Amino acid sequence: MVLKLMEFYLNNKLLSIVILSFLMLVSCKNEEKIAEEPTKKAIVYDMYQPSEMAGFMNAMYAYNQQLKAQIVAGETPTRLPLDLLKLHSAEMSNGKSRTQNWQSFVNVFIESQKAVVDTLSNTELKERYNVAINNCLSCHKTECTGPIPKIKKLLIQ
Ligand code: HEC
Repeated sequence: MVLKLMEFYLNNKLLSIVILSFLMLVSCKNEEKIAEEPTKKAIVYDMYQPSEMAGFMNAMYAYNQQLKAQIVAGETPTRLPLDLLKLHSAEMSNGKSRTQNWQSFVNVFIESQKAVVDTLSNTELKERYNVAINNCLSCHKTECTGPIPKIKKLLIQ
């Protein structure tokens, strides 16, 4: 009986530690802190289930990385294979919701991302691209600061 109780207590304690470290390390926190806690990160790695929105954000990141490579190479990108309207519908990580700030940035961002592949535009391609990336950053300043250093690397100097 005593053993059973101890076991229960230990299990729960472990569980709360795991849950706590998970909460501390969800995606929006900044990267330095993750680097300081390598063991906790290892625990979280197994459990981390990106939200639909986080998955979509990563797809947008990869897409823009590709755009940057094309633009730097002097090519003119014409494809936008992502359904940006998902930004309005995708589920977000636990505890996150679409704030007023989100609402004020999301459509501006969508239009600017579409403008990158608008071959009829009079604005220089590199400038259109950087405007889109700066709109990622505008929303991230209030909504999710962790990925900002990573997103900044997308800018074309
Ligand atoms: C309208 C606001 C908004 C815009 C615009 C926006 N993001 Fe995000 N982004 C968020 C929010 C909120 C999250 C957290 C989502 C979650 O955890 O469910 C996030 C998460 C992320 C993540 C972390 C995903 C993960 O693995 O947890 C990356 C990377 C990211 N965004 C990159 C970008 C890039 C690149 C762009 C522009 C092409 C962009 N974001 C545009 C609000 C925005």
